[in-house]
Formats: sequence, structure tokens, C-alpha cells
Amino acid sequence: MCGIVGYVGKNQAPSILIDGLNKLEYRGYDSAGMAVHDGKNINMLKTKGRLSNLIKLLIEHPLKGTLGIGHTRWATHGAPSDINSHPHMSEDHVIAVVHNGIIENYMEIKEELAEKGFHFVSETDTEIIAHLIDSYYKEGLSFEKSVFKAVSRLEGAYALGIICRDCPDTLIAVRKGSPLVVGNGNGENFIASDIPALLNYTREVYFLEEDEIAVLTPDDIKIYDKNENPVKRDIYHVTWDIEAAEKSGYAHFMLKEIHEQPKIVRETILKRVPENGEGIVLDNIKLGKEELDNIDRIYVVACGTAYYAGLIGKHLIEKVCRIPVVSEVASEFRYKDPILDDRTLLIVVSQSGETADTLEALRIAKRSGARVLAVVNAVGSSIAREADDVFYILAGPEIAVASTKAYSAQVAAMYILTCHIAVAIGKMSKDEFKAVKEELYTIPGKIEYILQKESVEKRLAEKYKGVRNVFYIGRGLDYLVSQEGSLKLKEIAYLHSEAYAAGELKHGPIAMIDENTLVVAIAVQEELIEKTISNIKEVKARGAKAMAIAMKGNTKIADVADDVIYIPRTMGLLAPVLANIPNQLFAYYMALNLGTDIDKPRNLAKSVTVE
Ligand code: M6R
Repeated sequence: MCGIVGYVGKNQAPSILIDGLNKLEYRGYDSAGMAVHDGKNINMLKTKGRLSNLIKLLIEHPLKGTLGIGHTRWATHGAPSDINSHPHMSEDHVIAVVHNGIIENYMEIKEELAEKGFHFVSETDTEIIAHLIDSYYKEGLSFEKSVFKAVSRLEGAYALGIICRDCPDTLIAVRKGSPLVVGNGNGENFIASDIPALLNYTREVYFLEEDEIAVLTPDDIKIYDKNENPVKRDIYHVTWDIEAAEKSGYAHFMLKEIHEQPKIVRETILKRVPENGEGIVLDNIKLGKEELDNIDRIYVVACGTAYYAGLIGKHLIEKVCRIPVVSEVASEFRYKDPILDDRTLLIVVSQSGETADTLEALRIAKRSGARVLAVVNAVGSSIAREADDVFYILAGPEIAVASTKAYSAQVAAMYILTCHIAVAIGKMSKDEFKAVKEELYTIPGKIEYILQKESVEKRLAEKYKGVRNVFYIGRGLDYLVSQEGSLKLKEIAYLHSEAYAAGELKHGPIAMIDENTLVVAIAVQEELIEKTISNIKEVKARGAKAMAIAMKGNTKIADVADDVIYIPRTMGLLAPVLANIPNQLFAYYMALNLGTDIDKPRNLAKSVTVE
């Protein structure tokens, strides 16, 4: 989704804006631009395509000034083009705006402004914001007041960065539904859609809350609520380093993040299941016996990869705790007219904590009196702030659009939550927990072992680089791992792939199987393996190639599959996190062979802040 950066201070803004935009590239974009105040006027450069196009333009037409806003656009209203790129300016270049999100009532405002004689040059919803602010400014309101008045008219979800020709040291930021952080520097201040854009300059940040407006000058940051009341906000000190958001010698962020998984899963587990402690440490998360006794139903709601991690949670809670759990993709949740009341627990899962559909599901649940537990990575994100309780997964910044390490940490969180609930309601004895705990500690080392053998997936990706049709199959938990494996291949290798419950193949999709099809069978749930072996035989009989992922020692499967990737042995319930690693590596090397833009796959955005 769009990335915003803004700067006001004593240094030249253009290079700071480019650096910030560079750090936000992972969000996905199709054009880039900036507006810089030179002390007298606002000058703007913007272009379709990569940031390198903007840098080229800047070299040809340098901008100078110590106040500026920059933007990477992910098209929603109007195709990617120079003219639709941000910033957008009022007609006489008094106001310049960058925007992330969607203005739902922009047509109505556009018509109203057009009647007053304003002209529009782009197809975007954003352009009306510049004109609307300008219209109030021309009526005699101050820059600040004009922004307040304009914002009170806007419906939708948005984050804005705004500058005015007549205020050469003022940057205004607005947040409603789309993320925005304010960076506090020394004689300089910043805004950005995400922390990595600020880390070269400051570690002191403010997270803006919903409907807040920040007014930044070089030496001051004032935050107001929508009624123009000043707001006091605690500063947040970012503890992680810029290196965490850089590639550290890996060819891609995705590969780096895949390799970070042993460490991250270890940290997620140890924080909650300390080696020298008796049980599980959930800190302030209210999920004790008393709270659980007051819960009749649990929902797990999320999108994409986070949804697939949530599905593992549903399966585990039902299997181990014997509590019914409903799982829904967040974008469908509201249409199901979900049964929600104060005896409902909604577990939302989100890496970014900003996914619009997941956030909306959370709000619907809260309005109905349900409790919300968020399993989130991004500290201070909207979902983390609005949930009743937060289980941080400690994965650190995930930059590659394709989620890998967050999935593993989310699944680890599901193991921990399941054990916690099971122990609390007496479905898991102390001894059973002790056995799971000991096995949990071995998981990071086993991930490490799989990663050391990544040449296997590399070789298989080379072997299968010609396939154009892939089915991922499995039963039980293996089917859930198949879904995530299939998504990863689609996202980064742009290959048609589908995940099917292995038993469902013969009810239709088997018609598509031929000698050009690859079937990836996840077969680590050993009690189900015989049946999955039969399914492999069925697809092989129809000409498909079969690649299996199985636990070490399972030799039977090697007799039927063309290739087998072995993972270390573990308890069936803990196997998904291991079985998924070969899928990640296979997708990565398939994409590498196909030459796609692995970290920033086409059409995708890291943080999907529109519904
Ligand atoms: O930030 P979130 O976890 O809420 O994001 C949810 C999905 O958009 C995300 O998992 C998406 O499917 C990824 N690109 C998957 O790799």
C-alpha cells in the first residue's frame, strides 16, 4: 500500500525523503513522487514506476528545501500514471498532499468543488483533498484550521501528509484508519507510514491514534484530536536496529527472513514458556480459567498467511481443548452476520496490525461486546492498540511482501495459546504439558536443520521450473500447511497453484491433473499418511509428478513420490511449523528461477490498509 514520508528541519529534504521511501518500498507501489518547499514555493516531481525513476528525475531537475513530503503510490483510484502519482496540489500550488488510503465520499466533494470552479487533473480521490483544504484556506482560515475543517468532511480510511506554500516550516500529518508514525528528531521532525523510514534519523516516535492530527515544525510536535483539543502522547523508543530492516548480505529480504526463523521462533517460545518456569507467561493477557469459563465461542479471524496460521490455531484448540472454534477470513466476517456477544472471544491474527479487513472485524466484535485477543507483530499498530489483549509474536520487521517468519511465529503463538487454554481448563495435565514444552524447545533447532539443507529445495525448484500447474494436498493439519504453501508459490512465482484437501481431489480437481502438473503432498501427520500415499498414487497414475514432504524415517512414501523432502521428527501437532519451511524455500527458489521480483511481487502490498 502507499508509503508516506515527510520532513521538516534544517537539512535538505529530498535525500531524506528518498531514503525514507526506499525503506518503504516493501509496501508495494507503482509510482513515486515528492513535493519540496524551497522557502517561497512548493516544487513537485512525480513519476510512474520505480523509485529509481524519481531519483533520475531529481538528478535532472534537482529540488532544494528543508520541508517536504514524499510518496510511493499503490493505485486504487486511477491507473498508475505520472498524473495520478502523488503528491497532488491545489490549482495555484498553495497546498500539496500525499495520501495513503481511500476517500469514500470523494465524488460528492469533487462535484461540490467543481461547481465552485475548481478543476481536477487526475482520476484520484486524493486530489480533492488538496482542493478542499485550499478552498477553506482561500476563505481566510489558517493552514491548520483549513486542514481540520477539510478532514472533518472526509469519509474513509486515510493517512495524510500536507504542506502549504505560505508556511515554509510546517508539516501537517493526519491519521484515520491508515498507519502513520511521527518521528521526533533534534531540530527536525518526521512523519512516515512505518518505522524503518525513520530509523536512520531517530528512534523516538509517536504513534498517532485514530482521527488525530499532528502539526510539526523543526522544533515542535503538537498532536490534536479531531475536536482540536491538544493530546498528550507518550514517546515510544524503538529498540530494534536498522539492520533488522536491511538484507544483511542475503539476496532478498524473503530469504533473510526465512533464515531468521530459528531465532524468532525460539524467542517467541522462550518469552512465553521460560525454561526455568513452571508454566506459560502471558503477562497481562486475560485468559485465565475465570475468563475462559465466561466464553461460549471462539472465532479466529485474519487474512492471507495470518489466516492460515489462525487455521492451525483453530485446529489445535478444537483438538486439544475441545472448544469449538469458528475461523473466517476477515473480509467475509461481517457478511456472515457473526454471532457475537460478551461471551465471545475473537482472536485476530495480523503481522502488520494494520490490515483493514482484520481491523474492521475487530471493531465489529468489540461493538458487540466480545473480547478481542490480537496476535500481532507490529508494536503499536492499530490492531494492537484496539484489541483488549495483545500477544506480540516478536518476529521483528518483516519486509518481504510474502510473509514467512511472521507465519512461523504466529503458529508458535498458536501452540502456546492452545497449551495455555488446555492447562487452564484441565484438558492438559502437567505431565502432558511438560512433554509438549520439551518438544517445543527442540523446534527452533529443527527449523535450523531444515534450513541447512536448503540445497534440496533449490535442486527441486530447478527440476520443476517448467511446471505451470501445481496442486498442494494434505489431510488434517497437513491440508492447512498446503494452503499456506500454495499461497506462497502464487504470490512470488506467479504460478497457478491450488491447495486441496487430499481426499477432495477425486471429487473434481483430479480432472485437471496431467503430465504437466506437479503435486506437492504434505504428509507429516503420520496417522493419515497411508491415505495420502493413496492420493499420491492416484495423481501419479494420471501422469503428474509428485513431491512429498514427510518426517524422517518414512520410507514408504519414497516408493510412490518422485521426490521426498524429509523434515526432522516431531509431535504431529507441532509439525506444521516444520513442514512449512520446505514450502517457503521451494517457492523462493521457483521464483528465483522464474526471475520475478521476489520481495515486491507484482500487484501486492505488504500491508493491505484498504478493504
Ligand atoms: O499484516 P497481516 O498479517 O494482517 O496481513 C495479512 C495478509 O495480507 C498477508 O498475510 C498476505 O497474505 C501476505 N502477503 C502473505 O504472504
